[in-house]
Amino acid sequence: MEENSKIPVHVSIIMDGNGRWAKERGKERFYGHAEGVESVRACTEEAVRKGVRYLSLFAFSEENWSRPGEEVKSLMELMVKAMVNELPSFLKNGIRFIVIGNRERLDGGLNALIDDCMKKTENGRNLSLIVFMSYSGRWDILQAARRLALEAAAGTAGEQHIREMDADGFSRYLATSGIPDPDLIIRTSGEQRLSNYLLWQCAYSELYFTDVLWPDFREKEFDAALSEYAKRDRRYGKVK
Ligand code: FPP
Repeated sequence: MEENSKIPVHVSIIMDGNGRWAKERGKERFYGHAEGVESVRACTEEAVRKGVRYLSLFAFSEENWSRPGEEVKSLMELMVKAMVNELPSFLKNGIRFIVIGNRERLDGGLNALIDDCMKKTENGRNLSLIVFMSYSGRWDILQAARRLALEAAAGTAGEQHIREMDADGFSRYLATSGIPDPDLIIRTSGEQRLSNYLLWQCAYSELYFTDVLWPDFREKEFDAALSEYAKRDRRYGKVK
């Protein structure tokens, strides 16, 4: 039996390799993204079963806006479809749905749907499913610093507040405020980098890289990552 204390509270995934998965099958990149939604469902269900409290997914980066217009459009449509299709299951399974990112860049209709889905699921207590869209780590740190500077300029953040601010205090300005930092960050498809993801929040995250492409990353692969995490010795810079 796995010790419950070894189950990460927050698992975050950089879902990568959809395009390659499709190419290997002689199909358009879109098929890889569509199949990737099935992996999202499988990992969400497994996270609930294992008692993970937060599952976050890097679905669309700020940098992804520069992909071909057709691909951006199909990814946005996939998001709309997934939200509409999955809402009943979120409600049934106590899943709170949250979207984080530079939402000013998202289309009005999509934003309205996100607001609706977030509102309807706000009482979900089993798992928070966080989707990072139009997100980048540097954007997040920058928007936090900008807000703080504007509060200072307006006089709503006093000098003492700023002088005494520690890391926890600054975290409250990040878009992820209220969400614990990820214990485990998984990246699929063999790439071993963070690609401007949760740059502040990853300070003490355990990193797990696998060659498996995202559309093939299902329950078994999710469990393998949790097993590997359970073996890690987290010291947070201290001596044990
Ligand atoms: C990376 O693969 C994947 C993405 C940029 C998109 C991920 C989105 C989904 C799986 C669908 C929507 C998600 C939710 C939460 C419903 P890639 O295109 O970079 O693949 P490649 O590196 O092989 O080209």
